[in-house]
Amino acid sequence: MHYLVTGTAGFIGFHLARRLLADGHDVTGVDGMTSYYDVELKRRRHAMLKEHSRFHAHEFMLEDMESLTQVVDQAEPDVMVHLAAQAGVRYSIENPRAYVDSNLIGTFNVIEQARRCRVGHLMLASTSSVYGANSVMPFGEGHCTDHPLTLYAATKKATEGMAHSYAHLWSIPTTAFRFFTVYGPWGRPDMALFRFTENALKGRPIDVYNHGQMRRDFTYVDDLVEAIVRLAKVPPQHDEKSAGGSPAAPYRVVNIGNSEPVNLLSFIEAIEKATGRKAIRNYMGMQPGDVPATWADTSALEAITGFRPNTPVSVGVAQFVDWYRSYHQV
Ligand SMILES: NC(=O)c1ccc[n+]([C@@H]2O[C@H](COP(=O)([O-])OP(=O)(O)OC[C@H]3O[C@@H](n4cnc5c(N)ncnc54)[C@H](O)[C@@H]3O)[C@@H](O)[C@H]2O)c1
Repeated sequence: MHYLVTGTAGFIGFHLARRLLADGHDVTGVDGMTSYYDVELKRRRHAMLKEHSRFHAHEFMLEDMESLTQVVDQAEPDVMVHLAAQAGVRYSIENPRAYVDSNLIGTFNVIEQARRCRVGHLMLASTSSVYGANSVMPFGEGHCTDHPLTLYAATKKATEGMAHSYAHLWSIPTTAFRFFTVYGPWGRPDMALFRFTENALKGRPIDVYNHGQMRRDFTYVDDLVEAIVRLAKVPPQHDEKSAGGSPAAPYRVVNIGNSEPVNLLSFIEAIEKATGRKAIRNYMGMQPGDVPATWADTSALEAITGFRPNTPVSVGVAQFVDWYRSYHQV
């Protein structure tokens, strides 16, 4: 099969592409190498993928429709997995326009291409952040997502809506994933695990928001990739019956999480254990746009694929810290 994956120099796209190549697929990867975080890390990820002859790398922004059209015509993909986005909850307060450009215009271009090339399965990344002000736990795909708390969440909610309309109008089998705090080796420098590990190893304080009274459903990246690979094989049908299915299109939304929220302070303890360093805690208030807890109902994922993420945080954090130490030689 030929997969077109966007965001392959990014954390999740890199892991997914690596797995697809190992499984014998062809992968066309597109990434604009944005400067949101260390571009060298993105280049190192892409360089590893380029070692495979079945990986075809392209570096441009998705807003560039002409380049995207050429790449799609060349690849003729069976499946498209759209992961490229301006990610991050807090940065969307600082630089909202980046979210509009990448997540709305970029996503629109991708779904237009999906229509044009009549792709067999379009898959796109949404986020647990769409649950916004919803406090009914665990978050189920059928729950209300009408109250996003950040522009990031709002653009992801729009991603789901745009994809649904195209699935309806053009019968494009479409799966929108809602990812819950993904972590693991080659992870993002803007995320808590990276920052906490870096600071703990350097003896610098870590900022602990909401005085540590936060719970997150942390999802190990290998589990997430396993879930995507399995979902790719079962495109939704018109009569899709899962919790996130649509009455009007071959479309579904699926939570991908661990379904086991972990207290932030326990997460920090796992980092301390893996690094062998005591973290200096700088307790702070709640950040604007943040939510106190996330918790995925993963019964739809399990019903569709027979799989549910299950890597414990202690194992996943140790894998990350091992990678961090070898990458930074510390
Ligand atoms: N990591 C998580 O915990 C998490 C949680 C929920 C949702 N998500 C979603 O999963 C997807 C992947 O996230 P990630 O953690 O790998 O992020 P990432 O930032 O590491 O990867 C995204 C990649 O997309 C590229 N990109 C951004 N805008 C682009 C554009 N307009 N054109 C071309 N390339 C562009 C970036 O250069 C980057 O390499 C994103 O859609 C994100 O919103 C991630």
